[in-house]
Amino acid sequence: MRKKIIAGNWKMNLTFDEGQKLTSEIVNMYKDEQVSDVTVVLNPPFPHLFPVKKLIGDTAGIFVGAQNCSDKDSGAYTGETSASIIASFGAQYVIIGHSERREYFKEDNELLALKVKKALENGLTPIFCCGESLEIREAGTHESNVKFQLTDSLFSLSAEEIQKVVIAYEPIWAIGTGKTASADQAQEMHQALRRHLASKYGKEVAAEISILYGGSMKPDNAKELLSKEDVDGGLIGGASLKSRDFIDIVKSY
Ligand code: PGA
Repeated sequence: MRKKIIAGNWKMNLTFDEGQKLTSEIVNMYKDEQVSDVTVVLNPPFPHLFPVKKLIGDTAGIFVGAQNCSDKDSGAYTGETSASIIASFGAQYVIIGHSERREYFKEDNELLALKVKKALENGLTPIFCCGESLEIREAGTHESNVKFQLTDSLFSLSAEEIQKVVIAYEPIWAIGTGKTASADQAQEMHQALRRHLASKYGKEVAAEISILYGGSMKPDNAKELLSKEDVDGGLIGGASLKSRDFIDIVKSY
């Protein structure tokens, strides 16, 4: 059975104190409101990883993840953080290939394939992001475009490895814009991606892979999006910075 996952992507937000406050609120609400069978992942900026992990403590169901990792193992790469360093601080997930990394830091499919490998080698679960721009959506080539992102970055993995990857479909035109894909648009793409995975790895393997939706998911639209058969959770940006909103999304399942 594939996991239901709600992951918060804090991006480059929150000071130490703000991060501590948000995490404590989320952990307390998660416990008090008895959220069950949803895996929650908090993805703060790097310096928060260890303190956030400590605050989560042994709360079952909540995990911490990074927003990026290096494609290298170690050495003279100033400013980079390797998957092994991330794992050594108790993180279990890492977002790879977010559209902001692709756009502002020129990360391409080939580099992202290496990052996914490093994450897996170090026991981290990659949350691999894919998604099309508005231009591509309007040209009607979004499906082939996003399938290609998967083929290029993930299809060298073995069947065993691909089952350890979480995919996040995030149409770029919906990220931080307040515009979401409709639940039907999300389902259509998620189903297409699962079929694409099945064409390479078989139906059984594809059925085990969680595919999250990301792009302006909020408490008021989460329920509809999360009710779709192939939508297995969400990658939440803006709304993950407010404990009430984030937990309300988690509870929309
Ligand atoms: P958003 O961001 O929820 O603010 O649209 C999602 C993301 O970029 O992961």
